[in-house]
Amino acid sequence: MENDVAYAICAMHDIPSQKARGFHLLRVGENGVVRPWPIIVVRWGRQVFGYVNRCPHDGVTLDWERNQFLDPNGVRLMCGKHGALFELGTGYCVDGPCKGRELEPVALSVIDGDICVTGVELAEDEETESDD
Ligand code: FES
Repeated sequence: MENDVAYAICAMHDIPSQKARGFHLLRVGENGVVRPWPIIVVRWGRQVFGYVNRCPHDGVTLDWERNQFLDPNGVRLMCGKHGALFELGTGYCVDGPCKGRELEPVALSVIDGDICVTGVELAEDEETESDD
């Protein structure tokens, strides 16, 4: 279902450049069912990239320590449990058990300095802050 609403989740400057942060959102599905929808937001300069926080191979969240999404070099997303590495800008897995697969992208826009989720319907009854 099309949804043109943009949901602001944080200010652009809340995420330092070259860092990633997790958000625990609630998404309303096609059948009206509300489900937890954890996402990762990566900021790189003026660009932002969003992915569902779920590894394609095992379905678990990537940050085994809260908000620890990046590899030691800070240039890829990494599964903290098994070390799968994903390109920041595409979500493509370049190494690890799900090599060749991809994180599910989340559409983001920056509107008036806020990072916004678009193209989905969110339930807004819970706080949408990051969990730090
Ligand atoms: S859950 Fe897939 S690499 Fe860890």
